[in-house]
Amino acid sequence: MVHSFSDIRTLFSSFLSENLFYKEPQSLYDPMNYLIGLGGKRARPAMALMAHELFGPLTKDAYRIAMAIEVFHNFTLMHDDIIDEATHRRAQPTVHHKYNTNVAILSGDAMMIESYEWISKISKVDLIPSLYSTFNKHALGVCYGQQMDLEFETRNDVTIEEYIEMIRLKTAVLLGCAMSMGARVGGADKQAQEHLQLFGENIGIAFQLQDDYLDTYGDPETFGKRIGGDIIQNKKTYLYLKALELANEEQRDRLTLLYTDQHQLTDEEKVKEVKDIFNTLVIPEYVLQLMDAYNNLGISHLKALGLEEYKYQALLDLCSYLLQRNS
Ligand code: IPE
Ligand code: IPE
Ligand code: MG
Ligand code: MG
Ligand code: MG
Repeated sequence: MVHSFSDIRTLFSSFLSENLFYKEPQSLYDPMNYLIGLGGKRARPAMALMAHELFGPLTKDAYRIAMAIEVFHNFTLMHDDIIDEATHRRAQPTVHHKYNTNVAILSGDAMMIESYEWISKISKVDLIPSLYSTFNKHALGVCYGQQMDLEFETRNDVTIEEYIEMIRLKTAVLLGCAMSMGARVGGADKQAQEHLQLFGENIGIAFQLQDDYLDTYGDPETFGKRIGGDIIQNKKTYLYLKALELANEEQRDRLTLLYTDQHQLTDEEKVKEVKDIFNTLVIPEYVLQLMDAYNNLGISHLKALGLEEYKYQALLDLCSYLLQRNS
């Protein structure tokens, strides 16, 4: 039997709630339980499980991969929120705001180690070395992407190509990794793993484009993060880069000035002015077009496996869900 996307998420949620961190010291583990317990879409663990199900029924190993990926993802969020000076995550205070920055650094470190622990529990022990090598490669990719994101804040010659590579690394490779590792423990061959990695990466690029769009245009209630955070932090998102490309000289000068913080505006005034320029240049339309293109590219890799459609329907449902998401 092949599960639906919503059944898969329910299955993962119950596995997670039985496997929270019941460990000492509380000072390290409470923040982890707090963050991971706040919910989220559980897109990555669902992808690992669905990828596994393309090749065989769900096993304990499939859940171990799903946990490793979701715990790692939450670790990246804990540190990302320090880097981005974010106040809210999943509509609640970020860990460094609720506790403090040192707690968030250490608890995040421990959380990363906990994610590796899940891989060490895989019962197909002969697969462990190659699973670690896939995981390490992409985990390092995330760090590299985050570093690029940070560097771009103070660069004003970032290209759209560089931006796409940055989001591929910071976000998309982990979605790809969830797919390829889930498939691997399910028995996929190398070629299938590669297609699924690329499916995940292209969907992941569309997903981060959507996240960047929602950061400016989302509803704070459902998005759960501070709207305008990327503009305040001078993030070189596709919205900004496309706007620069389409802007007239006056708009370009103004945008550049606003993003070097050589202005007297409050955060709210800056967000409003930048958003007005984005609107004039119909930037949301361009974002949606590019998201669609990456989504379709992702789906072409899924179809390339040559499986019957009912087997991957849940993954198609996940794609629609991610593109329509408002949280
Ligand atoms: C947030 O990821 C970080 C990004 C890569 C955009 P999600 O949007 O998947 O966060 P949760 O887990 O659903 O809260
Ligand atoms: C986050 O990108 C990517 C990682 C956590 C690795 P963002 O900084 O855009 O994610 P949010 O918007 O804070 O969730
Ligand atoms: Mg960030
Ligand atoms: Mg962030
Ligand atoms: Mg974001």
